[in-house]
Amino acid sequence: MADLQPMKSKKLEGKVAIVTGGASGIGEATAHNFINHGARAVVIADIQDEKGQNVAASIDSDRCTYIHCDVTDEDQVKSLVESTVSIYGCLDIMFSNAGISSLRSQTVLDLEFSEFDKIMTVNARGMAACVKHAARAMKEGGVRGSIICTSSVLGSRGAGVSTDYAMSKHAVVGLMRSASLQLAGHGIRVNCVSPGPVGTPGACKTLGIDEERADEVVEPLSRLKGVLRKKHVAEAVSFLASDESEFVTGLDLAVDGGFVAPAAP
Ligand SMILES: NC(=O)c1ccc[n+]([C@@H]2O[C@H](COP(=O)([O-])OP(=O)(O)OC[C@H]3O[C@@H](n4cnc5c(N)ncnc54)[C@H](O)[C@@H]3O)[C@@H](O)[C@H]2O)c1
Repeated sequence: MADLQPMKSKKLEGKVAIVTGGASGIGEATAHNFINHGARAVVIADIQDEKGQNVAASIDSDRCTYIHCDVTDEDQVKSLVESTVSIYGCLDIMFSNAGISSLRSQTVLDLEFSEFDKIMTVNARGMAACVKHAARAMKEGGVRGSIICTSSVLGSRGAGVSTDYAMSKHAVVGLMRSASLQLAGHGIRVNCVSPGPVGTPGACKTLGIDEERADEVVEPLSRLKGVLRKKHVAEAVSFLASDESEFVTGLDLAVDGGFVAPAAP
């Protein structure tokens, strides 16, 4: 698949990583990319068990494993991190990426709070639980770890619709900025990656389009000529995970082909 072409290096050599939401889309591509950059072990965490197991086996059955984890359940997140440390000896990288978007386009005038609560619970609270337990394990293990959270271009801009989603992604940026200040003294870095529209299974479902049609929908949304793909986001995450970014913390890195570049009014 063109989107998952290996770009091999040793920049993550020896590192142990968790990828939440790793059974699909950006998480799947990033798990793949971590292995291609030499990671010692990648744990894929998701709620889609069969898909997650197949993805782990197809990437590298020796270095990639699957653990069921619903990020909205703090006990499951704690146990995911503890199992990873007990199997592999440490945790170097947490890619906290699991997220959902709304099937309904909610303006502030017609917010439905059952949908709102679901989105905030996965995207904001789930993300906070992952950062909390990863940071505790890194601190206890004396690891100069890297935590990367997936926000969105809607984490720094208003949305015409999807108010709840935009709020949840702003919350992720707030979490990242606060955690980066609080954890810097322990040598732990925390950053965000903020993708523009990418034709993943999740995004296509939300937009109500076939994956084969994704390119034609996504391409006009990038100022940069071409199509933003999962591999572009995965490569940015691998940079933030690696020692190449060893003095980068508190950054919200947009990977969006200029989608949020400020334009003159
Ligand atoms: N695709 C885009 O256009 C886009 C743009 C900006 C941000 N994002 C963000 O990127 C991240 C990945 O999205 P994607 O587009 O790859 O979507 P996707 O639906 O293809 O993948 C998301 C994965 O998260 C998992 N997940 C959902 N709820 C979970 C939970 N409670 N616990 C554990 N896993 C859970 C899903 O099962 C799925 O495997 C999300 O945070 C999303 O908000 C996506």
